[in-house]
Amino acid sequence: MDDRYRQACLSAMGIVRYVRRGRLPGDMTTELAETSPEPVQESPRQHESKPAAAANVEPAVDSWQQLKSRVKNCTACELHVARTQTVFGVGDEHAELMVIGEAPGAEEDRQGEPFVGAAGQLLNAMLLAVGLRREQVYIANIVKCRPPGNRNPSKTEAAACRRYLDRQIELIQPRVILSVGAVSAHNLLLSDESVGRLRLRPHQYGKYNIPLLVTYHPAYLLRSPAEKAKVWQDLQKLVQLMR
Ligand code: URA
Ligand code: SF4
Repeated sequence: MDDRYRQACLSAMGIVRYVRRGRLPGDMTTELAETSPEPVQESPRQHESKPAAAANVEPAVDSWQQLKSRVKNCTACELHVARTQTVFGVGDEHAELMVIGEAPGAEEDRQGEPFVGAAGQLLNAMLLAVGLRREQVYIANIVKCRPPGNRNPSKTEAAACRRYLDRQIELIQPRVILSVGAVSAHNLLLSDESVGRLRLRPHQYGKYNIPLLVTYHPAYLLRSPAEKAKVWQDLQKLVQLMR
């Protein structure tokens, strides 16, 4: 990526790039990142502790088509009641990067696609900042139906929906997973540590030990733009992992 293009992507993300004199051109670490305070609250949804064990269901051997139709007709948890439609996931089914968010919001529920609202615009910019178009990655959520009023999905709801997400991961076999926000990270990693801490070390997910990085949710970044610099650092780690 040439420097002007990268700069354009960074400004699309809303990041001002401060380059210390003498710093290597490839080192995009910003001064901002080193001075930003730790966030108090990290997610638009409320903090949650460990999810319950995954629901005991039939072995997940669905093809993409079977899986899509199973999700479309799913009534396995309460969230099916208020949804307009399910939000399965979108992107390249052979993607090297899979992004996992929390749950559909109002706009996603309307359009049937994840991350199409304001947070989605910022997610697109984050991806572009590291040279990835939205179509090149796969984007999904912990739950496929919108929680009423954008509340957090409960442990039970997340557990009921997990088999679908796990089958998506199994079908895609991404090289790296990017978990955005506390609800995503807590459910995937069975942890209740803060995103501020979880983002500091690499993780692995599932039986395939897929490398997983945690970063802030774009909806959180919209409210706390100063944290974008940290996300930029996280995205640099992501690029390194994908190499
Ligand atoms: N936030 C999410 O976590 N997922 C979406 O699809 C939209 C907003
Ligand atoms: Fe089914 Fe998941 Fe929707 Fe619950 S959130 S009804 S488990 S698809």
